[in-house]
Amino acid sequence: MARRRIIAGNWKMNKTPSEAVALVNELKDLVKNDEVDVVYCVPAIDIVPVVEAVKGTNVQVGAENMYFQESGAYTGEISAAMLKDAGVKYVILGHSERRDYFKEDDVLLNKKVKKAFEAGITPILCCGESLEQRELGVTMDWIRLQIKSDLDGITAEQVKELVIAYEPIWAIGTGKTATAEQAQEVCKGIRDCIAEMYDEATAEAVRIQYGGSMNAGNAKELLAKPDIDGGLIGGASLKAEFGDVVNA
Ligand code: PGA
Repeated sequence: MARRRIIAGNWKMNKTPSEAVALVNELKDLVKNDEVDVVYCVPAIDIVPVVEAVKGTNVQVGAENMYFQESGAYTGEISAAMLKDAGVKYVILGHSERRDYFKEDDVLLNKKVKKAFEAGITPILCCGESLEQRELGVTMDWIRLQIKSDLDGITAEQVKELVIAYEPIWAIGTGKTATAEQAQEVCKGIRDCIAEMYDEATAEAVRIQYGGSMNAGNAKELLAKPDIDGGLIGGASLKAEFGDVVNA
């Protein structure tokens, strides 16, 4: 069965609530497409107004992070139940910026992945290598370690719903995209890893995105690759160009 494509915007720390609603309205007609899943992953404070603003459109809303505890004394954190209640369908987990600046490790991410599934929110689980790791030739070893650790204890049925985003760190926000061949090679490696951990049916079902300076100019070539099922878009998700990526 063909995998449904998923194009997600990662707004990062951009857009105030009023700017967020304005952007949703600006993009509304440009991202219309019934053949792909379109998701806006937005800052926590924008979630409620954006959920309201996308009502009646084909766009679904995602969060950029969450905490794994149910509730309690975790000042500054947001729970899966809060996101779910607000209308969130997806949550980005393990973005390299969270791993780097906020020191999130795979043990923590595994707890977050479990909690997201428990709450009925689909994780968009990010993985990817640094430039040093690529040059050392350990890209796939590193990514397999991330995937195996982050998915420890996750069932095949859950993985079939999961979205994995392959984001080479050296390509994020740098204007330097992985070539379609490089991206395909790693996305295929991730699918092979899932097949080893689970089975072929699970590997065939899991959706794998590419992310890292994806834009209107390179999306078509990347999305034509057999193991690339979508994109996680940063910079280009904040402008009209995002519509061209959705329709690529
Ligand atoms: P970019 O970001 O498209 O701006 O490179 C992608 C991401 O970090 O998800």
